[in-house]
Amino acid sequence: MQRNDAMIRVLGIETSCDETAASVVGLREGAAPEILSNVVLSQIEEHAAFGGVVPEIAARAHVEALDGIVEAALADSDISLAEIDAIAATAGPGLVGGLIVGLMTAKAIAAATGKPLIAVNHLEGHALTARLTDGLAFPYLLLLVSGGHTQIVLVRGVGDYQRWATTIDDALGEAFDKTAKMLGLPYPGGPNVEKAAAKGDAKRFAFPRPMKGEARPDFSFSGLKTAVRQAATAIAPLSEQDVADICASFQSAVSDALGDRVGRSLARFREEYPDVKTPALVVAGGVAANREIRSTLETLCIAHGFTFVAPPHVLCTDNAAMIAWAGIERIRAGLVEPDAMDFVPRSRWPLDSISAPMIGSGRRGAKA
Ligand code: KG4
Ligand code: ZN
Repeated sequence: MQRNDAMIRVLGIETSCDETAASVVGLREGAAPEILSNVVLSQIEEHAAFGGVVPEIAARAHVEALDGIVEAALADSDISLAEIDAIAATAGPGLVGGLIVGLMTAKAIAAATGKPLIAVNHLEGHALTARLTDGLAFPYLLLLVSGGHTQIVLVRGVGDYQRWATTIDDALGEAFDKTAKMLGLPYPGGPNVEKAAAKGDAKRFAFPRPMKGEARPDFSFSGLKTAVRQAATAIAPLSEQDVADICASFQSAVSDALGDRVGRSLARFREEYPDVKTPALVVAGGVAANREIRSTLETLCIAHGFTFVAPPHVLCTDNAAMIAWAGIERIRAGLVEPDAMDFVPRSRWPLDSISAPMIGSGRRGAKA
């Protein structure tokens, strides 16, 4: 049974890394989209003892949790499965075990209900979130900074992306996590490094700003990680204040380098789109929670005349509302693949098939 109110309702499923998530998003033409439910179960505790995401544990946890999470998302939205118009599931990139669980569940629901299935690229979910939250118009720039990816993507339209920059080695979140591990701080490292940095002296260690000043717009973080290791080894054993000073100096080096790198792409956007009067930079991914990084990006945007768009944290990190929304965007753009039921999960799936293969980021094979 469909509700006769011209609202498109899509059930989204996300299982590409260590969050099991389901959500229902609705859109009435001419109105703002509505997140009718958004359920996210994080597996952080299950992976913490290992200092990172363990693929086998993640896949098993998705199998155990997903049915209940989908039921909860439907119950929260007050929508029955019969009233859903389509099922959108993350089909890549990510850990293949988790992707199989999510996509097969979505296929089963689609087969049982006769509703269409939409295989969504997880990165497209991140890329389109700012349209769900802020109704942003194309084109705009996306900076994705998470545990698995560090990239700048030009978002020109639904299904129309161009990667302008990527990391040549570690992802930024990975650099935070590895730094934390070296300093004996718990996983996930980012929030703990930020917390320690608040009590530290950012000027004590002169860490490098990798690639700063270079013409190519890419990122690099592994040299910084090595510098942190050398500094920590040189003054071991570390006091609490040493750890705080290293974290503050690391965070300051990261923010400085990031600002320089992102600035290149802002300038390029200005050159390529002189007619866009209010260009926007959207930030997504867990690292976007970092206050110093945010404030660096805000200042940078002001200097370049850009609007800085940072969706709420729950929609910046992995969630299924962004997958449901990408499904709605694909339906509206007429981009639903007729043979989605045959779609095989893809552990690697660049948004932009024209760019060279990713050199570094996502090597961990983990999430985006
Ligand atoms: O987007 P996310 O939740 O998961 C994916 O990787 O997709 O991002 C997690 C990453 C981790 O590497 C974590 O250490 C980092 O984001 N992170 C932070 C902060 N909060 C999370 N990094 C720096 N500062 C933070 N406050
Ligand atoms: Zn992600």
